[in-house]
Amino acid sequence: MSTLESFTWLITGSSRGIGLELTRQLLTSPVNTVIATCRDPTGASALTALQDGAQGTLHIIALDVADEVSIRTAVKEAAVILGERGLDYLYNNAAINETDDTAFSFDPARLARAVHINVVGPALLAQACLPLLEKSTRKVVVNMTSGLASIGLDCGPKCTTYSISKAALNMLTYKQAKERSDFIVVCLDPGWVKTDMGGDGAMLEREFSVSHILKVVTALVSQDTGKFFRYNGEQLPW
Ligand SMILES: NC(=O)c1ccc[n+]([C@@H]2O[C@H](COP(=O)([O-])OP(=O)(O)OC[C@H]3O[C@@H](n4cnc5c(N)ncnc54)[C@H](OP(=O)(O)O)[C@@H]3O)[C@@H](O)[C@H]2O)c1
Repeated sequence: MSTLESFTWLITGSSRGIGLELTRQLLTSPVNTVIATCRDPTGASALTALQDGAQGTLHIIALDVADEVSIRTAVKEAAVILGERGLDYLYNNAAINETDDTAFSFDPARLARAVHINVVGPALLAQACLPLLEKSTRKVVVNMTSGLASIGLDCGPKCTTYSISKAALNMLTYKQAKERSDFIVVCLDPGWVKTDMGGDGAMLEREFSVSHILKVVTALVSQDTGKFFRYNGEQLPW
């Protein structure tokens, strides 16, 4: 927590879907400063429109999580925006799910790409943000995962590439939490949500999923670190 109970956030993939909704809901409170990142700020009209009527403070910067130079440049920009403040919440939301493949039909190039964007990107971003997180007294890292990452939930053969990448993100979460006991690092499944990725047939509205996510994330305590949560705060099996 920063002075005056105000909070700073950096969110990836804020141009649409859950990332856009996270940014929108956070900006309904004046306590939040949101560094909303996306690949192409000039084309992110829905994100830019959130400025109108925002109670919180919005900064939009470019960040492609597939590009190490972009990550380092964005973190430098974030450091300038934050000034003396630390980063309270790093929210690794951006991801891809390009194919509904199986273990015996996957395409190796697609698997490498999914691991690069869904795991290497969030890992490098957390590494680059380390000095900013260390300046915060809150130090929360949220890695957006999926129920499909869980072996315990027994989701079957579908979406193998995506599931492998999110299972690896879960292991990254565990390792980050074990390395830094002063941080709170969790992975969180938003549920099946109506977005471009989730599709129109998904069960949850974006508003519903995100309002629950924000209740869970803002209430996290040190004992929660290293855990795998569902959007409603229920703990999921690995
Ligand atoms: N929707 C669901 O049912 C569901 C279920 C479980 C987990 N999730 C997870 O929830 C998170 C958000 O998903 P969503 O449903 O909102 O997905 P979405 O609608 O497909 O949006 C994906 C977001 O990620 C961004 N992105 C993709 N590649 C990127 C890159 N290389 N660098 C930076 N940003 C990139 C996209 O930016 P552009 O606009 O530039 O493409 C977009 O903002 C993801 O981690 C996803 O795996 C979603």
